[in-house]
Amino acid sequence: MKLSTSVTLASAVCVALATSDTVCVPSTGTSSLRDEAERKDILIGSGAINPAYLEDAQFAAVLSEQFNSLSPENELKWSFINPTKGFCNWTIIDRLVDFADEHDMVVKGHGLISSCCDPDFVLDITDFDMFRQTMVEHFEAIMHRYHGKVDRWDVVSEALLDMGGGFKNTTYYHMFGGSRYVGEAFRIAHSADPTARLFLNENLVETIPEKRQEFYDLVSGLVRDNVPLHGIALQMHITEIAPVPGTIKEMVDFFTNLGLETTIAELDVHTLNATLQTEIYGAVMEEALAAGITDISFWGFTDKHLYTWLPGAKPLMFDEEYNPKGAFYSTHKVLAEFVQQA
Ligand code: XIL
Repeated sequence: MKLSTSVTLASAVCVALATSDTVCVPSTGTSSLRDEAERKDILIGSGAINPAYLEDAQFAAVLSEQFNSLSPENELKWSFINPTKGFCNWTIIDRLVDFADEHDMVVKGHGLISSCCDPDFVLDITDFDMFRQTMVEHFEAIMHRYHGKVDRWDVVSEALLDMGGGFKNTTYYHMFGGSRYVGEAFRIAHSADPTARLFLNENLVETIPEKRQEFYDLVSGLVRDNVPLHGIALQMHITEIAPVPGTIKEMVDFFTNLGLETTIAELDVHTLNATLQTEIYGAVMEEALAAGITDISFWGFTDKHLYTWLPGAKPLMFDEEYNPKGAFYSTHKVLAEFVQQA
């Protein structure tokens, strides 16, 4: 669905669709996040985009108006895109990629290896060579299909235990005899598309100092081993408590010293306190931009499609009816006022 000419009414913005229908969404009364970000060469994105949501014209209108990047929710994870041997569910991701193309948005590929969602035909493999070859074929199939359309990928997500204290004991860990699967996954991805930027995605490193140190050790080891790793995707799902001030800058400095980009991939704030949520969105955005992060994504943007572990929490920037919340305005303010260092 291609959107064009927009008209601002008192409290709504109405957009004429290519189908000659019109869609109206609540006005924010401000410029868009996207406009503010683009002036400063920043990617501002929404992850957790299930392509089926694009059929909702309001969803599509707000997404393309406010953001210049997107990533899928689960639909690129292995069991979703390739549930059975030899069959790939391309139409769903094609829809997302086409939407991004129509609206001049960047697609961030999320889910090559995640901590869930491996199909049975992969889990059932017992021979190491066959397992590795299956990974090669999977990465090649996806990365070749979207070559030129998806130029950055989360290759491995959540390698470490959620609360820290070692690696998750996944099939990959088991089959490779330990953590070396992480570096191998990056090598396989790099061979599949040598032009792609490759990211390691992890949760809770901003919150748990011991896990952060473990993650630093993991990343330093990968760099030392010349693994083709280009950046870090901090998930940044926040529950009730903001990261200690200075933590984001510390991480960016650490990864910059290793020659890596730091991005935020899944920012959202889980709390029942709307004021606190507004403050945390603003504080994280402020420290991230000041630290030099230029690629920030949220894990969705409307509470209509939220994902939370805190019962009753509404972690996103727009409510269920696409009204902007305090979190939108604190994010917008920080983006609008941000002045890049020369
Ligand atoms: C989540 C999805 O949003 C849910 O729909 C699914 O049930 C579980 O996974 N970190 C990630 C994402 O990297 O892939 C996760 O997505 C959220 C946490």
